[in-house]
Amino acid sequence: MFNVAIDGPSGAGKSSVSKEAAKRLGFIHVDTGALYRSLAYAAMKNDVDINDEISLKKMLNMTKISIEFKDGTQNVFVNQENVNDKIRTEQVSKAASDISKIPMIRAFLLDLQRDLANENNVVMDGRDIGSVVLPNADVKIFITASPEQRAERRYKELLAKGEKVVYNDILEKLVYRDHQDTHREIAPLKPCENAVIIDTSELDFSQSVNAVLDTIREKYKQ
Ligand code: DC
Repeated sequence: MFNVAIDGPSGAGKSSVSKEAAKRLGFIHVDTGALYRSLAYAAMKNDVDINDEISLKKMLNMTKISIEFKDGTQNVFVNQENVNDKIRTEQVSKAASDISKIPMIRAFLLDLQRDLANENNVVMDGRDIGSVVLPNADVKIFITASPEQRAERRYKELLAKGEKVVYNDILEKLVYRDHQDTHREIAPLKPCENAVIIDTSELDFSQSVNAVLDTIREKYKQ
């Protein structure tokens, strides 16, 4: 199987670029952030205090996360519930960053991610894919962009969805999440040694997709 690992901070366009690149390659696209979001959603829904280890463990024992792919789109289920649309709120974003610091949570999701990569050609995006989940990935890419650019994109996305948002709030939350994701003890966000870094600050969507595809094709030839 050919595995592409794409890591990077929130809002750098990782998921949408990965999805399009996967589509063009005929690979599946796995958005691992959605898995952390799903567990955060489950904890919120069941009123589980994520700092209470016993309650969290109990929740994980009763929770099955599964993924289905339909027309190139990943659908994530918590037990039988399709949570795709419910995990895209700002509240879940914050909760996902909080819950993803917990080793038990990261361990819980590891096999699911690895199994998908063992069984499929994948473009998998997240924070620790090249470093922890798929250390032997064929291609490792780190997609980034300036915090302001990322906040601007997120702001426009939420406005388009009809949400009432303030740009400075988005930027502040994004900087907070970046700090939390890059400074946590376990699997912190950072480019791995052999990752190709793509900065999308000055690139539009199709230029970003092409930069990713060029990188993958270059490696594929070797
Ligand atoms: O990519 P995203 O914004 O949907 O991810 C949500 C949160 O999940 C993010 O704050 C960090 C965490 N995450 C992680 O720790 N490891 C991953 N592989 C993917 C996401």
